Parts: sequence; C-alpha cells; structure tokens
Amino acid sequence: MSASINIALIIGSLRKESINRKFAEYMVSQMPESVTIKEVYIADLPLYNQDYDDTTIDSYERVRQQLKGADAVLIVTPEHNRTMPAALKNVVDIGSRPYKESVWTHKKVAVVTASPGSFGGINSGLDMRKSMQMLSAQMMIDPEIHLSRAIDSLNDDGSVSPRTQKFLQRFVTDFVDFAGNTSA
Ligand SMILES: Cc1cc2nc3c(=O)[nH]c(=O)nc-3n(C[C@H](O)[C@H](O)[C@H](O)COP(=O)(O)O)c2cc1C
Repeated sequence: MSASINIALIIGSLRKESINRKFAEYMVSQMPESVTIKEVYIADLPLYNQDYDDTTIDSYERVRQQLKGADAVLIVTPEHNRTMPAALKNVVDIGSRPYKESVWTHKKVAVVTASPGSFGGINSGLDMRKSMQMLSAQMMIDPEIHLSRAIDSLNDDGSVSPRTQKFLQRFVTDFVDFAGNTSA
C-alpha cells in the first residue's frame, strides 16, 4: 500500500441539506491520516457539449485534473427518477472526453447511494457501474452500499446513527484498502 492515498470525493446531490453529503462527511471523518480527500465540486459545471472539446473551459479542466490526480474516486449519491442525478452524469461525461483522453480509464471508483425510500438509490449505483464499465474504470463491487430509509439512519442533529456508523466504518476500511492496493 502506498504511503499516502489521494481520494476525490463527488457528491451527487447539489442541495445544501443533502443526506448523501451527511453520510459522505461521516465517511471522510473515518478515513485514516494517510488519506487525503478532496471534493470535486460539480454544481458549477456547464452541461457537457461535445463542441466544447476544442476549447478550454476552466471548470472542466479543474475537475479533469482533480480526477486524474486521484488514486480513487468515491461517489456518494441519491437517485433521481430511477437514474443517477443529471449533475453526476454531467461530470462522468466531462471526465470521459475529449475522445481518448478520458480520466476514467483504469480509475478506481466506488459508489455509495442513499435515499429516504426503500430502494436506497440502488438504480443510481447500477447506472454508475454501467457507465464505468464502458469507460474501463475499475469499480469496487464489494461491498455494495445502498442506504435505504436513510432518514432513519440520521439523528435529529444530522449525525449518523451508531448502527449505520458501524456499517460505514467497515466500508471505509474496505475502500481505503481498495484505493491503496497498487496490485489491484
Ligand atoms: C428530481 C427528484 C427525483 C427523485 N427520484 C427518486 C427516485 O427515483 N428514487 C428515490 O429513492 N428517491 C428519489 N427522490 C428522492 C430523493 O431520494 C431524496 O430527495 C433524497 O433526499 C435526495 O438525496 P439528497 O438528500 O442527498 O439530496 C427524488 C428526488 C428528486 C428531487
């Protein structure tokens, strides 16, 4: 395992009170000191247009460089209308282009989903797998984390319930192993 691990974090929800952000913040708090984690902000990214491939868009360059420099990408996201949210798909597309310059090729990627509903945002996770497979990324497939009825896993002050904390701690351990494993 390398001495230090760089993680890029993407939150698929843009809203301030996002429950996915709360779970992500808890996971970040559980990362060991050897991990440097930086959020890739996606709210300001113009909608991807192939015409932009021949121009320089600062926000596109920013996220491409962040993703390129990361040992692994952690995505924490809801689903919107049974698919990944549009803002999340946008950064997937931006990172995938220009043609043959994709930042996703061989990139280690893990996705955690959460929803107040009973499916836990699983469709968003499955969508991400589909895109990442096509882009030759290396998806972490086990464990799969889709937090259903996720409001019940948050206390009134927004902190994560002890039961879900334990669950997420195990995920963080596995994810850090995955991110730092250079032979994988
Ligand atoms: C446009 C839209 C579509 C949604 N579609 C789904 C859905 O398909 N499945 C689901 O479980 N929840 C759906 N929801 C509810 C979200 O799971 C819920 O708003 C959740 O809190 C979003 O995550 P966040 O708090 O991190 O923003 C939808 C919400 C919005 C705003």
